[in-house]
Amino acid sequence: EKLFAAAEKDGVPLAGVSGFRSEATQKALFESYVKRDGEEAARKYSAVPGSSEHQTGLAMDVTGINGKCPAEDCFAGTKEAKWLADHAAEYGFIIRYPKGKDDITGYQYEPWHLRYVGTKMAKEIADKGLTLEEYLGEAVPVSK
Ligand code: DAL
Ligand code: ZN
Repeated sequence: EKLFAAAEKDGVPLAGVSGFRSEATQKALFESYVKRDGEEAARKYSAVPGSSEHQTGLAMDVTGINGKCPAEDCFAGTKEAKWLADHAAEYGFIIRYPKGKDDITGYQYEPWHLRYVGTKMAKEIADKGLTLEEYLGEAVPVSK
């Protein structure tokens, strides 16, 4: 709520696209993507049921109030995406799946997917340009 209020004050009103998801919802979503794109492709942008941050209640997909490009690639580069990248950490959220970090996070760039980690951690992660995996020291090197 604080993040949305701040964005609105800055002239960038936001809307929620997807917040908490039950196991059943994630399963239905994932299966629809598998049907459409095949499992290998779907796994790059949708979590296998049981492993989505949306099931924890700590993640929220966010878009502009105009509802354009909701949780879609074309959200990248919008003023809303820029505002989130610049300010989400002040409210305890990180852009969980940053650009070019697919190999570490397991997912392609999702400028709309916010994950709550608290302000202290979020600011450190954002300032250092890390993923949550790198911050937690869980990044697995591609080769040993
Ligand atoms: N889109 C993200 C990875 C999820 O399904 O949780
Ligand atoms: Zn998401």
